Amino acid sequence: MPPEGSKRENHREDVAGRANVADTPELDAYYDELETFNAAALWTVANKIEPWEPVSSSVPMLWRYNDLREHVLRSVDLVTPEQAGRRVIYLDNPGRRNVAAAVGWLYSGLQVMHPGERASAHRHSASALRFIMEGEGAYTIVDGHKMTLGRNDFVLTPNGTWHEHAVAEEGTPCIWQDGLDIPLVNCLEANFYEVHPDLAQATNYPVDDMTKTWGNPGLLPGSHFGNDAWSYGYSPMLKYEWAPTYEALSKLAETSDGSPYDGVLMEYVNPATGGPVMQTIGASMQMLRAGEKTKAHRHTGSYLYQCCKGSGYSIINGQRFDWSERDIFCVPSWAWHEHANGSDSDDACLFCFNDLPVMRKLGLYREEALAENDGHQPVG
Ligand SMILES: [Fe+2]
Ligand SMILES: [Fe+2]
Repeated sequence: MPPEGSKRENHREDVAGRANVADTPELDAYYDELETFNAAALWTVANKIEPWEPVSSSVPMLWRYNDLREHVLRSVDLVTPEQAGRRVIYLDNPGRRNVAAAVGWLYSGLQVMHPGERASAHRHSASALRFIMEGEGAYTIVDGHKMTLGRNDFVLTPNGTWHEHAVAEEGTPCIWQDGLDIPLVNCLEANFYEVHPDLAQATNYPVDDMTKTWGNPGLLPGSHFGNDAWSYGYSPMLKYEWAPTYEALSKLAETSDGSPYDGVLMEYVNPATGGPVMQTIGASMQMLRAGEKTKAHRHTGSYLYQCCKGSGYSIINGQRFDWSERDIFCVPSWAWHEHANGSDSDDACLFCFNDLPVMRKLGLYREEALAENDGHQPVG
């Protein structure tokens, strides 16, 4: 840190190989000269901009559904989907307010829609997903493919695809979690947004056709369906339903001890490639069996979890967060974390979306287990 009286930052470290230049009147004058040319000496900031390990500005957070639900529902009386474009209450991490992120470079919000309401069709460079929390009759249309949505269904609205959301007249009020990489795409200064010229899309295909075509375990459609030719960077499946997801986890739990750090975890994948569902956002569902408590580890990448079944707690950088169904919490990059099921008789399930595809593709993924205390963090 700068010495008292200095007018600028000087991040010194008394370690060989790190910047450690004392301020002097001559250097101060030199820095002033550089500033007039919009330049600066790296050694004054090097230790700050290249920390020894990732320093996340995101705060470990839990958003309780009980706290937010009534406020989300109230937005229905306050604004229309037409006025708002998207009627969403977003999760505003105190450390990431300047970029509207819930954690890292990921955005998330709770969107509510009443029966008969329909939001305008649009597309953007950001990739998006929805995870259905409550209600009946919601549907999404992606590039003309209409998908019906139920509790705990997971839906993609990949970057560049036209999409719109609605709830059928005979449905009930619906709430879902949106997840997008808006902050990341803005950080990369690559975000475009377009409103559909007709404000709505025609639905050109049988309802749920993409899930029915691509979502069959161990089976891919014949090449005449174009599976060899699927050239988009996202999964053609578009919707992953809860029932087969839970069944798959239950089967895996019968045959595997799972991971000591994650319990029984399965990643949602693009069936055409085996890779992540979208280029920038990955997602998983994990089951913590009755009484299960995982060991602590940490890794790069930002993670947003939603409890979609059961209850339990997670310890994140020594802080305990108790969660139950529909609560959302985040694990910032390189934060120690472990999860525990609070029940000795029933399993608990956590949906998670993250920026792992980005971390992996850019060669930035790193993982480490906590060795001390039998792998568990002290709770502070
Ligand atoms: Fe969108
Ligand atoms: Fe983890």
